[in-house]
Amino acid sequence: MSKKVRVAIIGVGNCASSLVQGVEFYRHTEPSQFVPGLMHVDLGGYHVGDIEFSAAFDIDKEKVGYDLGEAIWRGQNNTVAFAKVGPLGVPVHRGMTHDGLGKYLSEVIEKAPGSTADIVKILKDTGTDVVVNYLPVGSEMATKWYAEQILEAGCAMVNCMPVFIAREQYWRQRFEERGLPIIGDDIKSQVGSTIIHRVLTRLFQERGVKLEHTYQLNFGGNTDFLNMLERERLVSKKISKTNSVLSQMEHEIGREDVHIGPSDYVPWLKDRKWAHIRMEGKAFGEVPLTVDLKLEVHDSPNSAGIVIDAVRCCKLGLERGLSGALEGPSSYFMKSPPFQVSDERAHELTELFIAGRVGAKCISDPEADHAPRPSQDGAADTQPLAARPAEG
Ligand SMILES: NC(=O)c1ccc[n+]([C@@H]2O[C@H](COP(=O)([O-])OP(=O)(O)OC[C@H]3O[C@@H](n4cnc5c(N)ncnc54)[C@H](O)[C@@H]3O)[C@@H](O)[C@H]2O)c1
Repeated sequence: MSKKVRVAIIGVGNCASSLVQGVEFYRHTEPSQFVPGLMHVDLGGYHVGDIEFSAAFDIDKEKVGYDLGEAIWRGQNNTVAFAKVGPLGVPVHRGMTHDGLGKYLSEVIEKAPGSTADIVKILKDTGTDVVVNYLPVGSEMATKWYAEQILEAGCAMVNCMPVFIAREQYWRQRFEERGLPIIGDDIKSQVGSTIIHRVLTRLFQERGVKLEHTYQLNFGGNTDFLNMLERERLVSKKISKTNSVLSQMEHEIGREDVHIGPSDYVPWLKDRKWAHIRMEGKAFGEVPLTVDLKLEVHDSPNSAGIVIDAVRCCKLGLERGLSGALEGPSSYFMKSPPFQVSDERAHELTELFIAGRVGAKCISDPEADHAPRPSQDGAADTQPLAARPAEG
């Protein structure tokens, strides 16, 4: 197996742009020091610069047929430019539209003419190791269709969006049967609204403060937020974000006391996202305690900082013959992994995974992995927290 990580991209939008720019930006970074923006310069023997783009798929006429290095600046993409990217020798092929374009995206994106490329053949011919799914929220049929192509081509998958694949037993089993790893679902950004809200929720829990009401309102000016104005497409995103936060508390809270989700589209924010989080609880003596905070981030680079590690973990999974969901990395990198643990525990399991000390099923079945049991201290935490009922 090559010492490169060959990565194909489905959906050349802002997140893809940040990932491609990031690989260029950090290509020659020294692994020995703390590097702003990266969690791992070297991950399990793979430097960021070992990531190579092998193929790309989109359906926007402004992107299909262009080199990936050019397509990332085209169409509706409006994320920050932080690296110079030259031609990569990777053409953007025509993908399969299915339900990729909703009401609002189809007002600003024109479909490329021509028929769907032979995705399986392209993935095989280009020696692709890992396919990253960056389709718009609500692309249920398209995501499942691409997942079938990925399985047939024999690649690993990183599912960055909230159509549930790694979280679902059916799909996990399909990847297991094909001997392929998957990390999913729905990227949890590096320091984004989800991880901040989760960590504070756990803090309340651990320090005895009862969370009684909370909201997280997000808005931004990229096509992700434009697309999410269509509320029917938003259902899985709300489930993903809400369950991710609620998984960190052990007492019940009324559904009407929690509101978490994308809220509006403000074009002049471009790829910036603002998140307002409010948490109201009862502290010692049952007196009220309130946290009210605002986060301002550039949305897409924030997610690319995670994907740059997820693709390398998938490559390690391929190398080690692991299949199905990589549970440790999925719990650390994703909002909707197969099993939720605390972020501290998820971090520990991810580091153990990278070091080769735990395998794919380190949460659900550590014995089957023949992996060393985690320390006694953390043992209780490896139990999946009770799954919360899905919203809506
Ligand atoms: N921080 C983050 O940015 C973040 C975090 C978590 C999850 N996500 C998710 O990642 C996904 C990608 O986000 P983005 O900001 O890059 O979105 P985007 O709108 O910028 O890009 C989506 C791309 O997909 C293309 N596309 C649409 N239908 C397609 C199809 N059927 N086949 C191939 N390409 C198709 C579009 O033309 C566009 O280029 C979204 O689902 C988003 O919710 C992003």
